[in-house]
Amino acid sequence: MKKIAVIGTGYVGLVSGACFAEAGNRVTCCDIDEKKIANLWNGIMPIYEPGLKELVQQNVEKGTLYFTSHTEEAIREAEVIFIAVGTPMSATGEADLTYIKQAAGTIGDNLTGYKVIVTKSTVPVGTGKTVESIVRERSRDNQAFDIVSNPEFLREGAAIKDSMNMERAVIGTASEKAFQIIADLHKPFTSTIVKATVESAELIKYAANAFLATKISFINDIANICDRVGADVTKVAEGIGLDSRIGNKFLQAGIGFGGSCFPKDTAALLHIAESSGYDFNLIKAVIETNEGQRARLVSKLETALGSMKGKTFSVLGLAFKPNTNDTRYSPALDIIPQLRDMGAMVKAFDPIAIGEAKKQLGNQCIYSDNVYETVKNTDACVILTDWQEVKQLDLMKVKRLMNNPLIVDGRNLFDLEQMDQLGFTYISMGRPA
Ligand code: UGA
Repeated sequence: MKKIAVIGTGYVGLVSGACFAEAGNRVTCCDIDEKKIANLWNGIMPIYEPGLKELVQQNVEKGTLYFTSHTEEAIREAEVIFIAVGTPMSATGEADLTYIKQAAGTIGDNLTGYKVIVTKSTVPVGTGKTVESIVRERSRDNQAFDIVSNPEFLREGAAIKDSMNMERAVIGTASEKAFQIIADLHKPFTSTIVKATVESAELIKYAANAFLATKISFINDIANICDRVGADVTKVAEGIGLDSRIGNKFLQAGIGFGGSCFPKDTAALLHIAESSGYDFNLIKAVIETNEGQRARLVSKLETALGSMKGKTFSVLGLAFKPNTNDTRYSPALDIIPQLRDMGAMVKAFDPIAIGEAKKQLGNQCIYSDNVYETVKNTDACVILTDWQEVKQLDLMKVKRLMNNPLIVDGRNLFDLEQMDQLGFTYISMGRPA
């Protein structure tokens, strides 16, 4: 059992904190946002994540999980401190380290005896050193501490599962003592530990996300070629994915990647490469292909309809992917304003992300959490998120409700032959119409 403080109750901090508590540690999750802390004590989660609320409540009841806005106190009591604050994308694409530096300063001010300071946030290479020097500068009594980089690989929507059963834990540190402490903390979750330097661990996180993003943009480029030569990208993906050296995951062609991680981390990696004097052409192309997919979908719709003016479209999916209410860098937030600019009306469906989407889209569309209500009387249906509700659509009912049976599918959800038999004009990404 270790006494742990987690600074930042966002996705990574809250999920990791709850999981460490579940494994028998005494965890205090800290946040400067007092309302968030009060809500957490009352069982109100700041994010939607399957299973999180239950896990948090269970551990609060057991007395293993606490919340506070008094970060200083939590730091003083803790043996291990995880920094899990946000590192948003700045205007240059660089990760903004303001919150990391603030957290490091507060840790330095409150260092009472040996502590392991662990960065969980996604940070540029060299941040471990920055944290170390801030803590050293601010700690008055020359207290001993060690720095660890322990990046997180959880996926939104599957965060608890990913954290409880990690494929690996990466622990980057120069200290054998700190390595052992963090390795022990991970024992309940994985038997595969990658021991690295702080710098290698920091780069592993970016390299992992950039590699996955590269797989997606690669298959999207292949899909765009398929569109031109009459091939089917799902077959190509199947045919290459069965080669275990390639693997079949992250080869789903479509609208491209969104969310709070891949777009931010590919841009940050490009920035890291540029600052180190390396021209990382491959990652530039990954970003460019991804941005192009959204325009390609809109142009497919325009080609199918001729003019967009005065048309009404149903857009299915506002979240960037299923099982989350996260709309950051979500295709819908880009595409809906484009459709509006082209003179169309938009009705949008999402089971849980309407609240988040409204913050950005306001009254640009009519919202509904009922998919059939959304498709009713529309001239085309645009699928952007592969929610279960969309995958399981009663297609005959959809056809009856729509003005015109045209579906443009950014997620390649349905069988081409079946859609043809049902009488839809069905346009997907990288598959023959
Ligand atoms: C991603 C990584 O998968 C996690 O390992 C990592 O920890 C996380 O970023 C992070 O850095 O915090 P996440 O952004 O939650 O997780 O979502 P993914 O499931 O990886 O999907 C990312 C995007 O790629 C989504 O927009 C998804 O629709 C898209 N995608 C995924 C495709 O277009 N095709 C695919 O084959 C797979």
